[in-house]
Amino acid sequence: MHGRRDRRSGAPGPSLDSFFVSEPTPISEPAVQAAVDAALAAIATAGTTAELKAARSVHAAEGSQLARFNAQLRNVPADRKAALGKLVGQARARVNQAIAAREAELSEAEERERLRRETVDVTEVPSRWRPGARHPLSTLMERMGDVFVAMGWEIAEGPELENEWFNFDAMNFDADHPARAMQDTLFVDPVDSHLLLRTHTSPVQIRSLLERPLPVYVVAPGRVYRSDELDATHTPVFHQIEGLAVDRGLTMAHLRGTLEHLARAMFGAEAQIRLRPNYFPFTEPSAEMDVWQPHAKGGARWVEWGGCGMVNPNVLRAGGIDPDEYQGFAFGMGIERTLQFRNDMNDMRDMVEGDVRFSQQFGMVV
Ligand code: PHE
Repeated sequence: MHGRRDRRSGAPGPSLDSFFVSEPTPISEPAVQAAVDAALAAIATAGTTAELKAARSVHAAEGSQLARFNAQLRNVPADRKAALGKLVGQARARVNQAIAAREAELSEAEERERLRRETVDVTEVPSRWRPGARHPLSTLMERMGDVFVAMGWEIAEGPELENEWFNFDAMNFDADHPARAMQDTLFVDPVDSHLLLRTHTSPVQIRSLLERPLPVYVVAPGRVYRSDELDATHTPVFHQIEGLAVDRGLTMAHLRGTLEHLARAMFGAEAQIRLRPNYFPFTEPSAEMDVWQPHAKGGARWVEWGGCGMVNPNVLRAGGIDPDEYQGFAFGMGIERTLQFRNDMNDMRDMVEGDVRFSQQFGMVV
């Protein structure tokens, strides 16, 4: 280990190594005692087996002071060999014993601690309550709302038990429009109360126009009701999100751009929309909106997503707005359908049965 390099270098004068390598400490009782004391102190203060290992490598292993004394015994004159050999040998034995004793203590403590940590209380009563999860329809509805909130729109609300006037008359339905008929609409007794369970979120349009200053940019997510039987593709209670923008100079192009943005937020950057002429009493012109899903399970496809159009001037008038000054566009789509398309679900009943295992598949996100 020490001081052999000067021979190879053959340099004249004092060897460089003499600056770096001190002369070996001669073996003496006080020197051995000092090495033992240092070793015992380090062993006593080691708090873990890892620290003890470190103490061992400094104080007992090869390269330690005691190991060096042991190596020096070779050069000790014969008459002192026995005495010094005994001194060093006993010192090393003491240190090794101390290490072994501390080792046993520490590993026992560590083992005890590990067992304590791993303890399983087999008598503990498990909770029978499964942790809940928010329903994916709620999460999705919020997500869709957020897309608009991010653009500065507001969330509007209206009652589910709605007045016939808001649901139909103000929305420009004729008195004898078939959608009013009993087979679609759930009217509430008595008939002359003119109350019903709203059949769409569109009455929130007229409520927003009556309540809010212009311009109006609102979305209204919520529950709606129709007297359908529950089957794989229908449920009598479902959810829609309504959108309404009323401002100066709005055109179909604004409607299209808004829907395209929503489609991409919901179905990915490659989603596209397509408008097909249609009829709604409350919009003119009106369109059915399809969305293009390039990555649907069964292959790329167009699916019908919702209705939309420019707000009918009669609706603006019912909301106290001059249609010559203001224009609007509106749209509405089903949340259940959106969830179906996004997550390739084919049975609507899974969404309404309330089995927590259904919701848990989605965790907290859709
Ligand atoms: N209310 C319509 C429906 O339930 C959807 C719609 C909303 C259409 C807004 C046009 C504008 O089918």
